[in-house]
Amino acid sequence: TAEEKMYRPNFHFTPKKGWMNDPNGMFYANGNYHLFYQYYPDGNKWGPMHWGHAISKDLIKWEEQPIAIYPDRDKYIFSGSAAVDVNNTSGLGTGKTAPIVAIYTLHDMTKEKENKIDVEQQDIAYSNDNGFTWQKFEEGNPVIKNPGIRDFRDPKMTWDETHKQWIMVLAAQDRSQFYKSKDLKNWEYLSDFGKNIGAHGGVWECPDFFEIKVKGTNETKWVLIQSLNPGGANGGSGTQYFIGDFDGKTFTQDNNFAQKVEKEKAVWIDYGKDNYAGVTWNNVPSADGRRLFIGWMSNWDYAQDVPTNTWRSATTIAREIELVKKGNDYNLISNPVKEINKYVSKTIKGKNLKGKGKLSIPEAEKVDLTKAIISFNVKNLKEDTYTFILSNPSGESLTFGINNTENHLFLDRSKSGKTDFSEKFASKISKAALEGSQKEGAFKIILDKTSIEIFYNNGERVLTEIFFSNQPFTSLSVSSNEGIEMSNIVLNQLNIN
Ligand code: FRU
Repeated sequence: TAEEKMYRPNFHFTPKKGWMNDPNGMFYANGNYHLFYQYYPDGNKWGPMHWGHAISKDLIKWEEQPIAIYPDRDKYIFSGSAAVDVNNTSGLGTGKTAPIVAIYTLHDMTKEKENKIDVEQQDIAYSNDNGFTWQKFEEGNPVIKNPGIRDFRDPKMTWDETHKQWIMVLAAQDRSQFYKSKDLKNWEYLSDFGKNIGAHGGVWECPDFFEIKVKGTNETKWVLIQSLNPGGANGGSGTQYFIGDFDGKTFTQDNNFAQKVEKEKAVWIDYGKDNYAGVTWNNVPSADGRRLFIGWMSNWDYAQDVPTNTWRSATTIAREIELVKKGNDYNLISNPVKEINKYVSKTIKGKNLKGKGKLSIPEAEKVDLTKAIISFNVKNLKEDTYTFILSNPSGESLTFGINNTENHLFLDRSKSGKTDFSEKFASKISKAALEGSQKEGAFKIILDKTSIEIFYNNGERVLTEIFFSNQPFTSLSVSSNEGIEMSNIVLNQLNIN
C-alpha cells in the first residue's frame, strides 16, 4: 500500500500490524537476539497489552515471531525484563537448556477502573525452549505484591556478579527501588533511589541498572537508566541516567555526576523526542562484552496519533552503550551497533566543502536517503549557527545542527511534512546543550524513511526523532553566515529491508 511504501521503515523494527510501545525482556540465547515489546495486535492505539516478539541474528534485521505472552482478560502484561538463568537458580529448568525467566508487571484494568491503588504487581513466566514459548508461573505469582503504591512497575533484573546475587530495579512512582533474589522467585526489598534527584516532571518508568567497565580500564561503575513521562529533555517522554556505585544494597551517585545532575537537572541518554523506555540486553556473550540498548522510537505526547494506520511505532537502531571517563567525569556514550556496517552496499566520499551561505552536498543526491548513514566533520567553527538541511522537491525540510552562540545542538521537524496530527509533535525545536562553544565537531546520522538518529562526537550527544515527509528527502545542504569547513564527508548506502 501507499502507506507501507512511504512510511514502513526500511530497517527499524515495526510489527506487521498493530500497536507497539516499550521494548521488553531482551536477551541473547542460542544464536538469537530476542526482542519483546508492549503490543496490542488488534488496534493501532494502546490497548490490552501483550508481549510481542521478534528475533535477530545481528540486531539489525528483525523477524517477527508469534506473540509470546497474552493478557488474561483485563489483566494486561506490562513492561518487564528477562534473564537467562544459566545455573537454573530458579529450578524452573527441565535440564536440557537453561530456563529463561521473564518478569513483568501484571496490570489489573478492573482495579484501575475502580480507582484502586493496588493495580500493579510483578509476575514471572518462563521458557524452556530458548525463549520461543512461555508459561506463566501460575503457582507462584505474584512474586512481588503491590505494597500500596499506584505506579509500581517495569521490573528489570540482572545478575550482579560482584555480589553474587540477582538484583532487580523497578519504578515506584517517583523513585527507583532495588530488590535482590537467589532464585528469581523470592525477592527482598533493598533500598530506593531518586526521590528529589534528577528530573521529576512525570512518573518514573522502565528503569535499568547494571555494572559497566569504564572504557579502556578495569574500573567499574553502576549505571541507573530511568525513563519518565512526561518531563523529558524536550518534552513528553524521556530517559535520564545516573552513574555511581552499588554496595550490594544501595546505589550512591558519583559525586561529580551528582553535581552535574544538580546543575543540569538531569542527564539524558538521548535529547531527541523519540527514544523512550529503552533498556539493555541480558546475557550478551561475555566474549563480546557489549552493553546493548534499544528504545521505543516515539513519545507518549503523540505516539497514538502519528499518520500510520496499519502499525504504529518502531524501535530505535540498537546501540552500544559505553562509559567514558574524562578527568573525573563519567559519561555514557551511545553509538549504533557495528553490525549495521555490514549492510553498507555503496560508499560515496564527498568533496570537502568550504564557504558561506547555503552550500549543497551534491553527493547526497546519489544516495537513497531513506536508508543511509552520513558522517562528516566540521572545523574552525565560529560564533554562528550551522544548519544542515535535508529537503525534498515538495519544499519540505528537516533541519539540524549546531547553534554555537547558545551552545547547543538542535533538531527541527516543523517543516518536515505531516506535523498537524498533534500540536506537541513539532511546536518546539529540540535542543541538546553542549559544554561550551564548539571549535569542531563530528556527526554521524542514520536515516530511515521516518526517522533520524544523530550521534554527535562519537555518541556524546544523541538526538533521535521521527518525521512524516510527504516525499522522501533527496538533498542535503548546509547553511551558515560565517562560513563552514566540512571534511571527511562519507555517505553510506544501506542495502536492507
Ligand atoms: C512506558 C509504560 C510502562 C508500562 C507500559 C504499558 O511507556 O507506561 O510504564 O509498563 O508503558 O504499556
